[in-house]
Amino acid sequence: MPAGIATYWDFFREFVRHPASVGAIAPSSASLARIVASIINPARASVIVEYGPGVGTFTSKIMERIHPDARLIAIEKNHKMASLFRGRYPQVALFEDSVENLSAILKKAGVSKADYIVSGLPWATFNDKLQDRLMQVTVRALQKKGEFATFAYIHSLTLPAGRRFRAALQYHFSEVRQSPIVWRNLPPAFVYHCIKK
Ligand SMILES: C[S@@+](CC[C@H](N)C(=O)[O-])C[C@H]1O[C@@H](n2cnc3c(N)ncnc32)[C@H](O)[C@@H]1O
Repeated sequence: MPAGIATYWDFFREFVRHPASVGAIAPSSASLARIVASIINPARASVIVEYGPGVGTFTSKIMERIHPDARLIAIEKNHKMASLFRGRYPQVALFEDSVENLSAILKKAGVSKADYIVSGLPWATFNDKLQDRLMQVTVRALQKKGEFATFAYIHSLTLPAGRRFRAALQYHFSEVRQSPIVWRNLPPAFVYHCIKK
């Protein structure tokens, strides 16, 4: 379901209120969302966790790929985004909470490990401590050989936090692939696709 102008406006307002945690002036493009969701192999996707869905741009592409019996668990900490998300995707289990609490959230959902984690978090705006905490809970929650996808803006590679994030991915995952740049995104971005050891 494409987002309307009112949704874009709400997203922008949340960015002005919480620039570091929202981290973008507008939702991601459908082109970026398609690449993020393309990491999912429907045949082995029983549990998929989405971080920071915002208004659900990645969610719609994820839902197009997964089996109707698969569990999709979304975690969004911003109250306004969470209520916009619930209005657009009432069928998705949304936890209005921080990803930092991932293990408790999975426990509440009755799930032990995730096959795929898809992240919409703005990692390059996070300080070192928060990046480390989020990375640890992510690696811990994934199955062996589980897969992780996240996007990064191209300018993030000029920032120490963006370079630090890439190094952390290379440390924690056995394989880290980088997609071509998606120019039809504001700002242009690419996708990291990582596979757990
Ligand atoms: C850059 S926006 C991405 C939204 C959407 N995935 C997209 O690509 O359009 C980042 C989202 O992550 C959420 N977020 C940031 N930190 C979070 C955290 N620790 N736990 C859960 N959600 C978080 C923000 O509230 C925001 O909705």
